[in-house]
Amino acid sequence: MDWGMKNRLSRLVKEDGRCFFLPIDHGYFQGPTSKLEKPGETIAPLMHLADGLFVTRGVLRSVVDPAAAPGIILRVSGGASVISPDLSNEVITTSVEECLRLNVSAVGMSVFVGAEYEHQSLVNLGKLVDECNRYGIPVMAVTAVGKELEKRTARYLALCSRIAAEFGATIVKTYWCEDFDKVVNGCPVPVVMAGGPKAETDREVFAFVHDGMQKGAIGLNLGRNVWQHPCPVAMMTALRAIVHQNVSVKEADKIFKDEKKKAGQK
Ligand code: 5RP
Repeated sequence: MDWGMKNRLSRLVKEDGRCFFLPIDHGYFQGPTSKLEKPGETIAPLMHLADGLFVTRGVLRSVVDPAAAPGIILRVSGGASVISPDLSNEVITTSVEECLRLNVSAVGMSVFVGAEYEHQSLVNLGKLVDECNRYGIPVMAVTAVGKELEKRTARYLALCSRIAAEFGATIVKTYWCEDFDKVVNGCPVPVVMAGGPKAETDREVFAFVHDGMQKGAIGLNLGRNVWQHPCPVAMMTALRAIVHQNVSVKEADKIFKDEKKKAGQK
């Protein structure tokens, strides 16, 4: 791996080989997502806990302080909104020149395996990898499921993750699922887990994150289950302990409760 690529990755993946990226890119197709209406206010108390921020250039420029930002993973794909007929109809929306100007640590884009625009999204990935390799920029491929959350099975996610890696992604972001080891073991590049829609219970989130880490994920790219939570700092602190300190689900729950108490929340 080239020096520049290694240097960029080291801003995101810490010395223990693990990472916690905070994604706030949801507005690129969902508009003002709940609790992300004012992204600057949402992330202010969380920034020091994030190893990376997954964000579009618009939000980056408007609300993120360049002097206090963690490593940036720039969302560079888009072109369909939540009300469009097909979410998979994406292209690359941001040039590599812009990525360099913004001094990003990586870029991220979605692939939609099995969807109407599968071919287009995979070709997007191949071309983006070619261009980014030229400048030493890592590419995180997001295995998107669109509105079909039930697609999150080991068989499907292993297929998507492997294809993304074959196309040259540096890191693959996918969802946790039962038998997650099948996803990780079939993917020759590091895997990070997204959280998906806000879960019913906190323990559920601690449990799947713990399981995914045990099964070989290198970390998280997890948003809604942090910033849509009434106690986002406590949540992120507890999840961070699972990622970076290998704590158990029970210990994470205790960290969460202690942090909540510290913040004066019941
Ligand atoms: C949405 C994304 C998000 O970055 C990804 O889904 C992670 O966020 P969450 O934990 O909220 O699912 O790619 O465009």
